[in-house]
Amino acid sequence: MGLDNDIRAASERIYNADSVTVASHIDADGITSGAILRQGIQNARITVKSIFLRQLEPMQMKKIPKDNSLKVFIDFGAGQQNLLEEHGLGEEEVLIIDHHVSQNVDTPYLQVNSLPYGHEKLSAAGLGYMVMKEMGVADGELAKLAVVGNVGDMMAREHCGLIGPAREIVDDGVSFGSVKVVKYDLNCYGISTRPVHTCLSYCDDPYIPGITNNIQGAQEFLEKLGITSRTDGGQWRVWEEMEHDERRCIISALTQQLIANGEGTDRLLSETYLFPEENRRTPLRNAPEYATMLNACGRWARADIGCKVCCNDRGLAYSEAEKMLQNHKNVIRQMMEYILDAGVTELSHLQYLHVGNRFPDTIVGIGAGMALSKLNWRKPIMILCYLPDDPELIKVSMRTNDRMIKEGIDLQSALLTASREVGGEGGGHKIAAGAYIPKSAEKEFASSVNRILEEQST
Ligand code: C5P
Repeated sequence: MGLDNDIRAASERIYNADSVTVASHIDADGITSGAILRQGIQNARITVKSIFLRQLEPMQMKKIPKDNSLKVFIDFGAGQQNLLEEHGLGEEEVLIIDHHVSQNVDTPYLQVNSLPYGHEKLSAAGLGYMVMKEMGVADGELAKLAVVGNVGDMMAREHCGLIGPAREIVDDGVSFGSVKVVKYDLNCYGISTRPVHTCLSYCDDPYIPGITNNIQGAQEFLEKLGITSRTDGGQWRVWEEMEHDERRCIISALTQQLIANGEGTDRLLSETYLFPEENRRTPLRNAPEYATMLNACGRWARADIGCKVCCNDRGLAYSEAEKMLQNHKNVIRQMMEYILDAGVTELSHLQYLHVGNRFPDTIVGIGAGMALSKLNWRKPIMILCYLPDDPELIKVSMRTNDRMIKEGIDLQSALLTASREVGGEGGGHKIAAGAYIPKSAEKEFASSVNRILEEQST
């Protein structure tokens, strides 16, 4: 028993395989997971093929080859073991590496899952790295990707940094020289690519009065501090390139601004993870921006390109990924504006909106998360949309925040229960979950989720 034993068993199963098929999810954690296993298994001189699936569901299962390879499911699989059985997969030909809630089935599939051992802040990429480390094939590249996967899956959010086994992987990355840690850095997105004032204006955790959602205010704030916002060459400066004293000056002024407005300062700073071997001013320089680039690839159906970037392609794949990132950011912004303009329907414990077929099902969850930061954070948000390839089904994405989780909200369990009631299926995490439900059940579904959320908060 124990996670270490499961990791050992998994590593032996991979070592004993003649060839391996790695199936993983299309988000940043899934893509880094796929890339970690791909590179690690290749390092062990075993033939490996990667496939990326939107979700492990009956239609997508057809993409799992019926051959003699060992099938490794990573970042999904634990909650879909019935599908593996239905697909005719035997115990010996499967390995599951996952961090989602597990399902009980008759076949005792070998599984490495962090959840039963109480590691709630460890993503699938982290687990994949641990298996590769056990196989003796981990290196700095793999540690870096595991950090991206962990951060991309919001494992650093609650504690403003990674903890437990995920933090040990950071230490590995530091020893390899591929990861640099900044212990008390600004808790802001875009520190390597965005002009500092834009970066500050996007900061909404904590909400900084006069600066959050106010680019002009952020620029004036920097001017008052005497911080020059452009380089000698006229380029906008980015946070990562600010001098140490300038950073301290900005952080101390932000602290005063928060205190003056009666806001807490505990989330202003967080530990950040930089990748010194990557080019400056690119999204690959730090963990959250790297993760967004991968999400952009995956959510626009090109997870394979994201995987190539993870496997060090800085040529064609990287320029494709850059284009997808730009497009991704534009569409997410449009979706957020749409949600805010159209307005959500508010129930007692839930706010929701059906976006029809305006936005792809693969990105509505991201839009939901971003819109929530501008709406009533006490009510979890649910976005529904149509699926292009299945007119009978609706995709559901829900998001909440850490404060509501502390008050008992658990979106995974809410969607699992509510979708089962209407013959659908759902899952995910406490903070972010999704489901597929029949179109006919749409109306009753929202009130059923609302009822469950009400029960959870009492
Ligand atoms: O699709 P979305 O980004 O909203 O998914 C949020 C989380 O819910 C992800 O971790 C995803 O794997 C999970 N999910 C699930 N079952 C579904 C849909 C999503 O476990 N049917």
